[in-house]
Amino acid sequence: MQNIFKILIITLVVATLSSCSSKDSPNYEYMPNMYRSIPYDAYGEYDVFEKGHSALIPPAGTIARGYTLFDYENTTSGYELAKKNLKSPFSSSDIDLKKGKELYNIYCAVCHGSKGDGQGILMKREKILGIPSYSDVGRSISEGSIYHTIFYGKNSMGSYANQLDDHERWLVTHYVLKLKSDLEN
Ligand code: HEC
Repeated sequence: MQNIFKILIITLVVATLSSCSSKDSPNYEYMPNMYRSIPYDAYGEYDVFEKGHSALIPPAGTIARGYTLFDYENTTSGYELAKKNLKSPFSSSDIDLKKGKELYNIYCAVCHGSKGDGQGILMKREKILGIPSYSDVGRSISEGSIYHTIFYGKNSMGSYANQLDDHERWLVTHYVLKLKSDLEN
């Protein structure tokens, strides 16, 4: 009789203890900092680091390799200024229409169409509206305005500054100019 009583108590104790355990989280953590170390986020600000940052901060006034500054603002007046004054740094031998076409077909043709007439697949399927033809006289796009548009985007067109570097933006700009002149002739 006593034995059965003991077995019953042990079963009860085991059942009580095990009922609260979960496979997904540890039970008791006697030394939690042994389980979980304190994470420092990249580019976070923490007192433990020299200068208070977990990453090295570039010295003031420097720009990253491969980046160039763009002097024109993301405003209508910045756009107008670029349209008038911004000229391509390419000499005629830098222009590579084959590369420009490749990039254009990847990033732009879905909306603008491979001919630049504004009849890309997204336009035909009415996923996006209001895509102009590059020959649209009202817009009279120039090398500067095309570059500005690629850099910042325009209304419902997003920026392509992250997808295309400076050199590639000019490659695409020259290809757009070619499409424009093909459309006009
Ligand atoms: C998601 C669709 C979409 C994609 C992709 C796209 N565009 Fe556009 N683009 C538009 C729309 C919409 C407009 C009209 C913006 C407005 O003026 O309201 C436009 C306008 C333009 C204009 C005329 C801007 C002006 O000065 O009036 C140029 C040039 C242009 N895009 C070039 C490009 C180039 C180059 C690419 C690829 C790097 C590209 N677009 C990718 C939707 C797109």
